[in-house]
Amino acid sequence: MLLRGVIASSALAAMAAAESYKETYRPQFHFSPEKNWMNDPNGLLYHDGVYHLFYQYNYGGITWGNMSWGHATSKDLTHWEQLPIAIKANEDASGALTEMIYSGSAVFDSKRSSGFGSKSKPPLVAVYTSNYEQDITLANGKAVLNGQESQSIAFSTDNGLTWTQYAENPVIHEPPSQYADQYQQFRDPFVFWHAETTKWVMVVSLADLHKLLIYTSSDLKDWTNVSEFGPVNAVGGQWECPNLFPLLVDGKRNAEKWVMMIGINPGGPAVPYRLGSATQYVVGGFNGTHFTADSNNVYEQEPPSNSEVFADWSQSTFAAAGWTATGDLVGQGPEDGTVLTLQDGDATVGTLTSPTFRISSNYVIYQFGCCYNPYNATTYGTASDTETAMNLVVNGAVVRTTTGVSGGDVIWEQWDTSDLIGKSGYIEIVDKSTGGYGHLQVGQILFSNSSLPPEANWVDHGPDYYAAATYNGLSTYERVSVGWMSSWAYGAEIPTTPWRSAMSVPRLMTLKTISGAAKLVQQPQMNLASLEKTKPYSKTWSNLSKQNVTLPVTGKLFDITLQFTPVSGKFGIDVRTDGKTQRTSIGYDPAKATMFVDRQASGDVEFSTSFPGVYYGPLSKQKDGSVKLRILLDWSSVEVFGNVGESVITAQIFPSSADTKLALFSTGTAKNVSLKVTPVTSAWV
Ligand code: FRU
Repeated sequence: MLLRGVIASSALAAMAAAESYKETYRPQFHFSPEKNWMNDPNGLLYHDGVYHLFYQYNYGGITWGNMSWGHATSKDLTHWEQLPIAIKANEDASGALTEMIYSGSAVFDSKRSSGFGSKSKPPLVAVYTSNYEQDITLANGKAVLNGQESQSIAFSTDNGLTWTQYAENPVIHEPPSQYADQYQQFRDPFVFWHAETTKWVMVVSLADLHKLLIYTSSDLKDWTNVSEFGPVNAVGGQWECPNLFPLLVDGKRNAEKWVMMIGINPGGPAVPYRLGSATQYVVGGFNGTHFTADSNNVYEQEPPSNSEVFADWSQSTFAAAGWTATGDLVGQGPEDGTVLTLQDGDATVGTLTSPTFRISSNYVIYQFGCCYNPYNATTYGTASDTETAMNLVVNGAVVRTTTGVSGGDVIWEQWDTSDLIGKSGYIEIVDKSTGGYGHLQVGQILFSNSSLPPEANWVDHGPDYYAAATYNGLSTYERVSVGWMSSWAYGAEIPTTPWRSAMSVPRLMTLKTISGAAKLVQQPQMNLASLEKTKPYSKTWSNLSKQNVTLPVTGKLFDITLQFTPVSGKFGIDVRTDGKTQRTSIGYDPAKATMFVDRQASGDVEFSTSFPGVYYGPLSKQKDGSVKLRILLDWSSVEVFGNVGESVITAQIFPSSADTKLALFSTGTAKNVSLKVTPVTSAWV
């Protein structure tokens, strides 16, 4: 008891952490809250030598709810201390929620433009989305509706420990009048100081419209909408959590460009059927009011011009197109160049089967729209089949399948069929669903040897990097980002307790010219050296051909660098393997010029059908022909940085505790292999 009085609260927190941060799957050098649910990083601010990390937090449970801003701080982006909740959701007298505190950002208002604080204590100001939970009139007389999203502010004069919500909130009550109907989809303000125009700038999302609104202000209270940006590039889900910041291309003075970073959910490329969350970026210019994308950063989704048309639905009946119909589709035909199974509303059921063909191209490219009812091997072809899917069938087995996004647009997608070349098969379009969202829409189907052009610049090609935000308060061109290391596709189901979700490692973002264009490049930005206490294991091989090499090191926490010259076949490293059935494979495929992470057999993958998968990040060889993979392995994640960091894959894994082996694999030939495996210790001790 006596002791308690004299130990500083931070020391107590550190002691609690040391005891509790040892649970199965507990991240050891990533931030995770001691208990309960966390999602987006919020209010990233470097101030007075301290990195503040606020985050979407449920103080009352291990799934999403009661959204408030949790708080942690660090001096080195490596060791974190969790502090009390910073901005708490508001409740009425009966204890029912009136307002949740959604994502946003924070700034240091050094000149007290807001009038908050005092001369000796200028305020930190947080700008966030109020998500109202009831139709109410606030104490200041402003009326808000249940589900309404407005922008609000709060200030702190004790370095972010406690916050006062502004009495006149919200400061942006609703979107501009032309978007009035979007009042429930208007969120995630990112605010920064724009020195050239001496104004605060806010970027905030109209999530459903794929539009970002830009506002400016002199005092953080009175905001004027000055422009908008979007839609552009990936739009297969909602746009959330925008960030806008300047960087120097190749570090050269006078080569400033601006990066717009945008969360999209669903619609990410990694999780099957595009169910995942992801982060895209657009490089361009910003003049204080308008963001303009560089023309080489705006992509049109068009199939390769040399594609062969397999179906374009220009005929009046499916039979005339050569497809065999069953069920309600018998005697029917295409509509406006698509198959749309709404003849009898969502109740329509039936199949369309193509003529058999010999697979002779690398890709089948097609357009697919609503709805989400995936193929299920167990119910397929039975009376319980409820799929709305398109399947490629070879030797009687479904070898490729796709389904849509409920309510989603018809978009271009592809199957890589390069490993099926020479085989015969057919395509079937199956609608067995009768409920709401029980139809499908298929447009053109093409064969091509080239893949679809890129749809977007992905900040991370893995499944677990979302709502990424960047630090305010560092020097102008120093940008450090943190992402939520999970996905809305399965985030509520991951097998961790008593907490759910971790943040990615902080990453330094720069722009480098690669293949003639300015590309976002990332590297871990933390003091890993402070956690590296034992000697690394290093070894070189001049040639590794078709062989697996079990390494004489085992462990669950590593900083690994693997550099090699790929010649043929796949080459890489298995981590958290038992040498038999469990592994997370991280490697490079020269035939596709991609690095990859395969977590299909990584341990517990059963908790969600969306979890297992293989993720690919485009990566060309470096000038000397080599490829470099830097891998950060924590107890429940891998982050892979390709070459200088132009391609990144982040993926959670939940391996069994006993399996800690490392092994190199090679299905072809890799030369000049050099490996360095540095053991890392926990940041929580
Ligand atoms: C993104 C997001 C934000 C929102 C927050 C709510 O993950 O949906 O748009 O502000 O989470 O927790």
